[in-house]
Amino acid sequence: MSLTHKKIILGVTGGIAAYKAAELCRLLVKAGAEVRVVMTAAAQQFVTPLTFQALSGQPVLTSLWDAAGGDGMEHIHLSRDADLLLVAPASADFLAKLAQGRADDLLSTLCLARTCPLAVAPAMNREMWAAAATQRNLEQLYADDVNVLGPATGEQACGEIGQGRMLEASEIAAALPGLLGSGKVGELAGKRVLITAGPTFESIDPVRGLTNRSSGKMGYAVAQAAAEAGADVCLVSGPTCLAQPRGVRRIDVQSAAEMHAAVLAELPSEVFIAVAAVADYRVDVAATQKIKKSAVPLTLQLIPNPDILAEVAALPDAPFCVGFAAETERLAEYAEAKRLRKKLPLLVGNLAQDTLGQDAAELVLFDAQGQHPLPRADKLTQARALIGHLLTLLN
Ligand code: C5P
Repeated sequence: MSLTHKKIILGVTGGIAAYKAAELCRLLVKAGAEVRVVMTAAAQQFVTPLTFQALSGQPVLTSLWDAAGGDGMEHIHLSRDADLLLVAPASADFLAKLAQGRADDLLSTLCLARTCPLAVAPAMNREMWAAAATQRNLEQLYADDVNVLGPATGEQACGEIGQGRMLEASEIAAALPGLLGSGKVGELAGKRVLITAGPTFESIDPVRGLTNRSSGKMGYAVAQAAAEAGADVCLVSGPTCLAQPRGVRRIDVQSAAEMHAAVLAELPSEVFIAVAAVADYRVDVAATQKIKKSAVPLTLQLIPNPDILAEVAALPDAPFCVGFAAETERLAEYAEAKRLRKKLPLLVGNLAQDTLGQDAAELVLFDAQGQHPLPRADKLTQARALIGHLLTLLN
């Protein structure tokens, strides 16, 4: 997807990085885009509208009221006409505004009224970026399908070093064609990622069954992290009580056999991440009526379930496969053996007693290079780190 003739609204908010937005504007125009620049009042303290007017060849819009020509609905017309709304730099204040859906100036009103994809390139001091409030706002923006580009880590205008620098103009410009093509950006944009999550439930009779202790939290977090990276995510989920992550397609299943069939039907995909705790056995013939209680011991004939992950990994055109191993002891030994047995480029190991049902997890990633421990953190943080590691292996 090229930027030629694409209508891009470039929103500039108040921050030192506003000077980089001038270079970004120039790059977008050079790539053939029709750029309309909208500046907040604070942005004009850093760069003048004249700079952007000269670079975009269009008058710069700075006020909700100035823009209200004709029928006074300029904020609606502008947003309807756009292929993409990009806010760069996006200040901490503007992210907060977006997360809340406020519309008290032209740029925030355009964002709220838009029907096109929205991307933001945050820029702020590292402490402002790490602040609980900013991270809370980001969660909301991810959930609202806003594409967050960066920020990068490095030296900041204030002299501190850390995460919060705006991406370079060239990096932002390079991300936009993917966003225009799929409505998403990120290193997994345009890639199908298939994920299993939760337990399976194997019926014994209509009211009883065999299952595993799995909340599904890790698998759902992985699905969210993959969606944040721009992937087209399909989540095949056993029974859980969890809300579906935004932007993720979910297929609900009960048994391992159903999960197996759903996974095969969703192939091909570029990546397969098997997080589900699949029951290793099912009852050979489940009773059609409730089994009555009696003093006589009950014998159930259990037969093995298909190993979904091993089967997918063995396909001739296998996706990049990631397995999970929950062990209760000798994690490194068992996990690496499982990775090799199932022929996986990447396996995530954890100790069941430290993880099951909990909101946080301590993980170890096993790949051909060795072990990569991820210190204990909430499952979404772990899932994002896992996707980051997967990307380094994929590339
Ligand atoms: O062999 P084990 O069950 O310990 O392997 C765990 C990994 O294999 C997990 O990634 C799990 O989702 C996957 N698996 C599967 N189908 C099975 C059993 C496990 O996909 N029947």
